[in-house]
Amino acid sequence: MSTHLGASPDQIAPYVLMPGDPYRARWIAETFLEDPLQYNDVRGMLGYTGTYAGVRISAQGSGMGQPSMAIYAQELFQDYDVQAIVRVGTCGGLSDAVSVRDVILGLSASTDSAMNVPRFGQVSFAPAADFTLARIAAAVAEERLLPLVAGGLFSSDQFYNPDTEITSTLAGYGVLGVEMEAAALYTLAAQFSRRALALCTVSDHLLTGEETSAEERQETFEDMIVVALESIVR
Ligand code: HPA
Repeated sequence: MSTHLGASPDQIAPYVLMPGDPYRARWIAETFLEDPLQYNDVRGMLGYTGTYAGVRISAQGSGMGQPSMAIYAQELFQDYDVQAIVRVGTCGGLSDAVSVRDVILGLSASTDSAMNVPRFGQVSFAPAADFTLARIAAAVAEERLLPLVAGGLFSSDQFYNPDTEITSTLAGYGVLGVEMEAAALYTLAAQFSRRALALCTVSDHLLTGEETSAEERQETFEDMIVVALESIVR
């Protein structure tokens, strides 16, 4: 057991899919994993382990925001020897290079969070995806004709951001989407020398105001989960 996960060491697989929403973790386990077993319900942050194409994989909720993601990612890497985490989430589109329903593969994650200040002081560390996972995910998406765009994410501490300028500034520097967890995940993967990737479907668009319906979100999300699972088993 770790502080926030009530699993014995062998109950969590070396590869973990992490949606923000714990109910999504349950849905992933029930929909895609064979023989899923729930190993965690501490604080309702559901976690399951099963197999996909014969490979043991876990689905673990991260909660919303970098502090929550950091708690679970650190315990997975440190206490359960997890080798790779793929975040499977949603993001807001920032740039006209993406549309709703696209999947953004987060090559990097800029952030307004102060979480890395105690680690690096004045240096602004650049949290980045694992190249191997990114390359395979891009290839799988291409094979499956899934609209995937690779580029920067903005991991913001604010869902309701009073600074309405910052997203257009970042878009001007090629950042594609805003979410709230990838930078913490990438930083911890770097600290523990493990692999991490964030895949985010664009659920709403900050420039166009366009939104996806619940049904569209579910469909795109499903396609993205398959890309994440296939990327892990290859
Ligand atoms: N902001 C932050 N996180 C998000 C958004 C957003 O607009 N959409 C989906 N996740």
